[in-house]
Amino acid sequence: TWTMKSFARDQIEEIRETVGDKKVILGLSGGVDSSVTALLIHRAIGKNLTCIFVDNGLLRKDEAKQLKIRLKQHLDINIRFVSASARFLKALSKVASPERKRKIIGKVFMDVFEEEAKKIRDAEFLAQGTLYPDIIESMSAFGGPTSVIKSHHNVGGLPKNMKLKLIEPLKYLFKDEVRLLGEELGLDEDLVWRQPFPGPGLAIRVLGEVTRPRLSVLREADAVLLEEIRKSGYYRKLWQSFAVLLPIKSVGVMGDKRTYENILAIRAVTSRDAMTADWAKLPHSLLGIISNRIINEVKGVNRVVYDISSKPPATIEWE
Ligand code: XMP
Repeated sequence: TWTMKSFARDQIEEIRETVGDKKVILGLSGGVDSSVTALLIHRAIGKNLTCIFVDNGLLRKDEAKQLKIRLKQHLDINIRFVSASARFLKALSKVASPERKRKIIGKVFMDVFEEEAKKIRDAEFLAQGTLYPDIIESMSAFGGPTSVIKSHHNVGGLPKNMKLKLIEPLKYLFKDEVRLLGEELGLDEDLVWRQPFPGPGLAIRVLGEVTRPRLSVLREADAVLLEEIRKSGYYRKLWQSFAVLLPIKSVGVMGDKRTYENILAIRAVTSRDAMTADWAKLPHSLLGIISNRIINEVKGVNRVVYDISSKPPATIEWE
């Protein structure tokens, strides 16, 4: 019978055969897909794998710092960390369109990644943690290349000027299978169970223009939300749970004064592969705690709403 153990063994063998004594580069995001890809390839070729982690300034609170510690601790792998926040935020200034945000982030990422990758001499392969649903959702089955639903920059993203060959060892797997494979390979439990996080990060959760102050409001609110979701035991049951900062304000009252502040939306969904998703029936008591804490603790937010739309017709992200 087919097991993750034999899948891992076969993949490692195949990678060894394909790569030989050449070098491989991998973009590490801190998510389960790229981490499992890294482990698999590291098992196959060891130090001939170099990972690149780009901090785009669009990560969640303390995420870059924590990932750095965790990845170093748990993966005995060559990793290069690149801080590029300023570059991403500058390129995003005054941009409000979701598709333009994605294109810009994808392009800056490619530039930064390529600059770093060029320093690794004799690299012949680029590894990516592409999953089966990533490929499906990017294919023309959804209506041809002119009506691409979203530009997923983690699919088909080969640096243009580098003649690298692509390896995608997870391309026939679904997320739950990748988690099993991660466990099989001894990946840290925390990384195995991380909820997916989009490449463009918080840029597509600050609706409209992305500024440092708005990123910071969202970061604080999202941190409170995730803390309560973890505490309640819901974290692993949800495909994703996150906060979205809306580009409109509403009136509130605090003490004897009226306020005119931001609205924050909470999104929590269940799903197997992100192609379809249901809004999560979280207990009202939990939603109440989250709302109270965010309004009391996060300056700049006076109203919290819960998103009760499923995919389709809504998407998981708001942009
Ligand atoms: P949607 O919003 O299309 O999202 O229902 C489906 C899944 O994909 C993630 N997502 C992205 N991931 N780059 C990514 O790497 C993107 O541009 C992007 N847009 C959405 C989203 O978080 C969800 O898991």
